[in-house]
Amino acid sequence: MVRFDWSGTPAHWVPGDPFTSHVINVLHLLLPPGERWFIRVVKEALPHVKDPAVREAVEPFVLQESWHAWAHRVVLDHLADKGVDTEPFTEALERYLQRFGSDIPSLPEPARRLWLLQRLAAVAAIEHFTAVLGQWVLQTQGLDNAGADPVMLDLLRWHGAEEVEHRSLVFDVFDDLSGGYATRALAMLFAAPALTWWWVRGVQYLMARDPATGGARPKWPDWLRSARQFRLPGPWTLLVTTPLRYLRPGHHPSGEASSDLAAAYLSRSPAATAARAAGAA
Ligand SMILES: [Fe+2]
Ligand SMILES: [Fe+2]
Repeated sequence: MVRFDWSGTPAHWVPGDPFTSHVINVLHLLLPPGERWFIRVVKEALPHVKDPAVREAVEPFVLQESWHAWAHRVVLDHLADKGVDTEPFTEALERYLQRFGSDIPSLPEPARRLWLLQRLAAVAAIEHFTAVLGQWVLQTQGLDNAGADPVMLDLLRWHGAEEVEHRSLVFDVFDDLSGGYATRALAMLFAAPALTWWWVRGVQYLMARDPATGGARPKWPDWLRSARQFRLPGPWTLLVTTPLRYLRPGHHPSGEASSDLAAAYLSRSPAATAARAAGAA
C-alpha cells in the first residue's frame, strides 16, 4: 500500500509560490469525490461490458482510483492541521456529483442507458485531462527547479504515472457500450468548463483561507508566470489544445502520453518502492 509522510511538508510546498502550491492543491479537493464518482459510474457500466479484456481491466482501475482518492484525502487532513478547513468545498462537490452525476432509476430504460453513456463519456473526458496532467508532471522540471517538496512531487508523479497507465480504460468501456462520437464530444464540451469552474473555485477557496496570502485572489498573470517557469501547464495547452485533441473523431487515449515513462517512474518512486518492499516483506 502506497503511503506518504506529510509531517515535513510545508503549507507552500513550492517554496515562495503560494499560487502554484494552491493550484495543484486543488487536486486534493477535487480528486477524492471525483475519483469515487468515476468508480461509481464505471461499476454501473460494468454489467453491460462485452469485451472480456476490458471487463478484466475494470477491477485494477477501481483499485487504483480508490487508492488515489484515499491518498489525496490524507493531504486534506494535513491542510486541516495547517488551519485550512476544506470540508465545505469537498462536501459541495460531493453534492454536485450526486445531483448531476447519478443514475436516475425512474427513467425509462432507453433514456437511462443514454444517461449512463453520457456520464461515462464525461468520466472518459476527465480521464483525458488526468492522463495529460500525468504526462506533464512526469516530464516537467520546473517543480524540481523550484525546490518543491519531494513528498508532494512523489504523490503527484506516482498518481500521474498510474493515470497514464490506465488512460484508455474508461474510454474503452464507453466504446464497448457503443458510445458514439456525438455523446463523447458533448461530454467534453460540458466536462471541460465544469472542471475549469471547480478548479478556479478551488484556488479561490484555498487562497482566501491562506493567512500568508492575506486573502489575495488568484490572477491570470500568476498562471502565465507559473507556466513560463514550467511549474504548471499553460492555459493554451490545458484549455485549448488538450480538449481539441480529444474532439478529433479518430482519437484514442493510447495515442496520448507514454506508458514507458509512467512505468519508469513507478519503478523508482520512493513511495511505490517502499510499498513494494513492505509487500515483499
Ligand atoms: Fe486517479
Ligand atoms: Fe484515472
